Amino acid sequence: MKVSVIGAGNVGATVADVLAQGDFLKEVVLLDIKENYADGKALDMWQTAPVRMSDTILTGVTNDYSATANSEIVVITSGLPRKPGMSRDDLIGTNAKIVKSVTENVVKHSPDAIIIIVANPLDVMSYTAFLTAKISKNKVFGMAGILDTARYRAFIATELNVSPKDIQALLMGGHGDTMVPLPRYTTVAGIPLTQLMAKDKIDAIVDRTKKGGGEIVKLLGTSAWYAPGAAAAQMVEAIVKDQRRIFPVCAYLDGEYGLKNVFLGVPVILGKNGIEKIIEIELNEEERADMDSSNKAVREVMVVLDDMKIL
Ligand code: NAI
Ligand code: 2OP
Repeated sequence: MKVSVIGAGNVGATVADVLAQGDFLKEVVLLDIKENYADGKALDMWQTAPVRMSDTILTGVTNDYSATANSEIVVITSGLPRKPGMSRDDLIGTNAKIVKSVTENVVKHSPDAIIIIVANPLDVMSYTAFLTAKISKNKVFGMAGILDTARYRAFIATELNVSPKDIQALLMGGHGDTMVPLPRYTTVAGIPLTQLMAKDKIDAIVDRTKKGGGEIVKLLGTSAWYAPGAAAAQMVEAIVKDQRRIFPVCAYLDGEYGLKNVFLGVPVILGKNGIEKIIEIELNEEERADMDSSNKAVREVMVVLDDMKIL
């Protein structure tokens, strides 16, 4: 199996590194527009192979899409990250153009590839790639839910002083401040979270999760990469191994949850065909209202995309 990662910056390089370390792919190609950047990073990573005992071949190229030809999966991370004071939505002007041109090149060389979007604003960049690629909706989707849920699970593990491995959780909606963590669907080794934690503590964790990306931007001056990279690699692994894992994924909704023509985070089964199925869970009134606010926020950014008239 061949996987290409577009953008060899913080997130792209981490995705490639986690994949290579996993040692389940034949080849990972890393591509960046910056001269020699992907080449150098891939060479450095390849030189870890004898130490980590991995056979996955790493190749780095400067904007040469022929090297990505016939990839089964392509992860698109190319795009500006946030700086302090910026929201993810502020990135649209630059990133929509990048995602559009990158997707065109990807599809030209790998027409059968499954495409995973990481660039922000995530929900609208997934939509941009979908409209550009003109391929089936089960084969273009975005990574955010695994990251946001991982943050939520990590905060719960810290608060309860238990292993993060035992926290099972679900989070839906857009990748922004209107994301919808779902305490009602959160358990700790099968025990409902609500039995283990007081409401005010849960509320504080939900709030911290919503602002989790911004917390890292404030600390580092740019956005996160270790957890985003690991999350995107986990999606690749689920597809390559046809694991049929259930993950929150930014998917094209065509009537599910009563919503149409929008990309939003929902639980899906991820397997060899990409999104095998969108799972529709029951939402109470408050959860439904939160999902509607998220939908509204994403649609506002879609209007900005429409006004750009690039698609
Ligand atoms: P970065 O600046 O470290 O890397 C971006 C890379 O893309 C750079 O190396 C740049 O040269 C490259 N690039 C720009 N235009 C390109 C083009 N046309 N073709 C090929 N490469 C191109 O940024 P970082 O931290 O890796 O973040 C990448 C994107 O991912 C950002 O938009 C960021 O907001 C987003 N992100 C999304 C997350 C999510 O949960 N979906 C989580 C973390 C970041
Ligand atoms: C994050 O949540 C910036 O979307 C990125 O870390």
